[in-house]
Amino acid sequence: MRAKTLLAFGDVHIPHQNAQAVEVFCLAAERIKPDLIVCLGDILDCGQFSSHPPTYGVPETDYHDDLKVANALLDRLQACCHRLVMVEGNHEYRLDRWAAQTCEGRGAYSMLAPRLQLSKGRSKFTYVPYGSATARYPHYAINSRIIAVHGWSYARHATKHHLQISQGKSVIHGHTHRADSSIIQNIWSPGSVIQARSGGCLCKPVPLYGTGRPVEWVNGFILGYLGRRSDTLYTIPIMDNRCILPDGAEITGVAA
Ligand SMILES: [Fe+2]
Repeated sequence: MRAKTLLAFGDVHIPHQNAQAVEVFCLAAERIKPDLIVCLGDILDCGQFSSHPPTYGVPETDYHDDLKVANALLDRLQACCHRLVMVEGNHEYRLDRWAAQTCEGRGAYSMLAPRLQLSKGRSKFTYVPYGSATARYPHYAINSRIIAVHGWSYARHATKHHLQISQGKSVIHGHTHRADSSIIQNIWSPGSVIQARSGGCLCKPVPLYGTGRPVEWVNGFILGYLGRRSDTLYTIPIMDNRCILPDGAEITGVAA
């Protein structure tokens, strides 16, 4: 009996993506042909709708061009997996908050909203909105043991924190742009473990909001084998234009 395969990635922050890292991830996906790919949110930066002023020197892009890049990425991933899931991030949700402020914004909402514009025409696709009155704790249940969320914390020990509050489930998350994992014995189910894991980001690993302070951001993604009764999750770091998969295959990409 073969385990199902999962790939999870997040925090691409188009147009601030690291094109090399995105290419390596796509090549890995095309090699693995996973059953499921989960985007952990913030595929788009949506900086055009931010309440913060743009960072000096960072070129501004057209939101529709960013949408096209995001949809092309989702198209490419859908072509090599069985099901694609997008768990919305706080950056996509920026647009909802922006639109809600004015009636003009509310009128333009359907033309702009990532939750609509990234879902159009897709089948075998699930979009989990970041905020809604009915889904207070939005998440995607990968199976009975693991949930995917954008991220509940940006704190230094965010991953451990996710494990503390996930109420007995394993949880994979994005949002922090860092790679981290925490695995503990599941005391309620002897012989099993629960874990929280973040796989890093696919954006440029240097913040563009210009604080000048070093960060621990890592380009990478999560690879999972989902069994009937247990799972194994790996974090795959991307270094420059390459990564190495658990089977020893080295993936090298040249960004278009
Ligand atoms: Fe985020």
